[in-house]
Amino acid sequence: MHFPAQPWTLWSMALLATPTTAFISPLRARQADDGATAFDWTSITPTPDLQYHSCYGTFQCARLRVPLDWSKEPTTSHSNSNSSFSSSSPGPYAAIAIVTLPATVPVTDPSYAGPILINPGGPGGSGAQTALSLGAVMQGLIDVPGVRHYDVLGFDPRGVALTTPSGSCYENQFDRAVDAMALRGMPTVLSEQGLNMKFGANQAAGKLCDENVFKYLSTASVARDMLEIVDQSHELVTKTAGSNATRKACGGGESGGKPRLQYIGFSYGTVLGNTFASMFPGRVGRMLLDGVADAEDYMAGTWQKNIGDADASVDVFYRTCFDAGAGCPLRQSSDTSFEDIRARVAALQASLRAASVATVYNNRIYTMTSHLLSEKIRTSLYEPIPKYEPLAIALAEALVGNFSSILADDIVMGFDLRSSVCTEPPASDPPQEYNFGNEISRGIICGDSQASAGKRDLAWAAAVVARTTNQSSSVGEAWSNIPLACADWSIAPAYAYAGPFGSKAPDNSSNTPAAPLLITSTKTDHATPLANAYALSRMHGGSAVAVVDAVGHCALLATASTCMYGIVQEYFHTGKLPVNGTVCEPDCVPQIPFKACPGLPGV
Ligand SMILES: *[C@@H]1O[C@H](CO)[C@@H](O)[C@H](O)[C@H]1NC(C)=O
Ligand SMILES: *[C@@H]1O[C@H](CO)[C@@H](O)[C@H](O)[C@H]1NC(C)=O
Ligand SMILES: *[C@@H]1O[C@H](CO)[C@@H](O)[C@H](O)[C@H]1NC(C)=O
Ligand SMILES: *[C@@H]1O[C@H](CO)[C@@H](O)[C@H](O)[C@H]1NC(C)=O
Ligand SMILES: *[C@@H]1O[C@H](CO)[C@@H](O)[C@H](O)[C@H]1NC(C)=O
Ligand SMILES: *[C@@H]1O[C@H](CO)[C@@H](O)[C@H](O)[C@H]1NC(C)=O
Repeated sequence: MHFPAQPWTLWSMALLATPTTAFISPLRARQADDGATAFDWTSITPTPDLQYHSCYGTFQCARLRVPLDWSKEPTTSHSNSNSSFSSSSPGPYAAIAIVTLPATVPVTDPSYAGPILINPGGPGGSGAQTALSLGAVMQGLIDVPGVRHYDVLGFDPRGVALTTPSGSCYENQFDRAVDAMALRGMPTVLSEQGLNMKFGANQAAGKLCDENVFKYLSTASVARDMLEIVDQSHELVTKTAGSNATRKACGGGESGGKPRLQYIGFSYGTVLGNTFASMFPGRVGRMLLDGVADAEDYMAGTWQKNIGDADASVDVFYRTCFDAGAGCPLRQSSDTSFEDIRARVAALQASLRAASVATVYNNRIYTMTSHLLSEKIRTSLYEPIPKYEPLAIALAEALVGNFSSILADDIVMGFDLRSSVCTEPPASDPPQEYNFGNEISRGIICGDSQASAGKRDLAWAAAVVARTTNQSSSVGEAWSNIPLACADWSIAPAYAYAGPFGSKAPDNSSNTPAAPLLITSTKTDHATPLANAYALSRMHGGSAVAVVDAVGHCALLATASTCMYGIVQEYFHTGKLPVNGTVCEPDCVPQIPFKACPGLPGV
């Protein structure tokens, strides 16, 4: 039994009528480069202490056993915690899948600097996969050679990928695929019929999910799991190297004898980090939050703080195309400004809203809808450098009635249903393939907001669509899919934290972070606007925002920036922050035709 190193990419889970994972960072699209190796996860028995097993070449894998329901544990007060739940916890348990790229020095080395935990966003993104694909790149950016060497520790949050129990709502991939295909091609949610159908489908899809799993997937539970990972990592290092090693390896010092977290969270991972820092401020060593989602807006289920900069972001694409002249297939010689290009695409969108178009692609029938067009644009904006040229080609073809580039895009269309059905591996625990990303994403988003969202009925759905399409004419329709997934959601989490969010400035006590938070963003981000980064900074004393003057999602992922890399390395090493509001130049800008960006991982 194998878990191949490249079994899935999270991008590929974007089933259309189910939620498209909201704040996911683009690194999910990037692949591990050790494709040859595989690992049998069923060979690991989950343990309450961290027991690593060699896997995927140079990586270490573990399954950490934690209580499924943290609300039942006596020592989980939302404060400076006492994290030991003790092995006497009666169960039931979750088993958190962990993939760690060990530091390039042994733990006994004076330069060993402990683990940095990572979350790639989503919710629903796999940290294990991220460690495989980006661990070495991250070490390259953050290690200070000879001085500080980190482990990069990726974990799959509750319900996700290799963590068990799995947040899957279907028994098999065939059923999932049949439903997904039935949902494809629904009329636009801007029509009454389309909204009714989408609402009903989401309502029904939510009922497929097992409450006995889905009530334990909250962001607060994952934050609490992270504390456990930190404690167990510390135990393991102490066992291996003695207490001198652990002192250095606890992210800026211990907190009343307890180790502290070092963390990088992208996108939704900023909500997770914010939650951790608010629940356990004294256990923060270093925390870098990149591409900021507004935690209050997210927890309230209001979805008002996401796409405020989306139209500005699309305009950068149109300007890039216009400036490229004949190099951009979407530009026509009669165009006098980027707005002419924008108007042509807007007219196509309006026409698809009025009437979708049946078309044949790859010997199958598809319905080309305004939703698909909006989704093609939305998903391309995450990574402008590699995606602008293909977007320009796809839109140029679509304008002459050829939709094949859009229909061929797995990110837009969802994973290749035919091949995923035909190659489905036998059931195992943990599962060998991660194809339930939409289900888990829905569960986390809708559960986290359950307490405050109010009644999510058809009138609510209509308001969601009105709001998102009003916020962005180009991607609002696609974005509305995410909140709409919570239609009539009824499962409330057992262990929740909905605020207050924030932490005090460090004062050297065990109740405050060892260093203030470092918050980063691009200037123009269509999913997590820069304003969210400043709002987050206001909540966390002493924190600072650093901005890359670029377009795309997440400062460290949208473009290479030597300036930003220096800030991040310095922060992890010393805890020192740049001046709040520092703006870094990017090393590259997106171009049409595509031009590579040396130093940008995966591009
Ligand atoms: C942690 O738990 C132990 C045992 O239950 C208790 O004695 C101790 O006071 C707790 N510490 C904190 C900081 O809550
Ligand atoms: C740990 O550090 C102390 C103080 O620096 C030193 O005296 C001791 O020898 C060290 N122990 C080990 C095992 O290195
Ligand atoms: C449509 O676009 C695809 C992809 O670029 C191309 O291969 C195909 O030939 C086009 N179809 C027509 C009818 O022009
Ligand atoms: C649409 O946006 C405008 C300007 O931001 C705002 O005044 C109006 O209330 C919004 N309408 C809806 C339905 O959200
Ligand atoms: C914390 O301790 C360090 C080192 O002793 C000192 O430089 C710094 O001023 C202290 N910070 C506060 C807020 O007390
Ligand atoms: C950082 O700057 C922003 C914008 O000026 C401000 O709102 C925020 O309060 C500042 N952060 C801190 C910790 O002072």
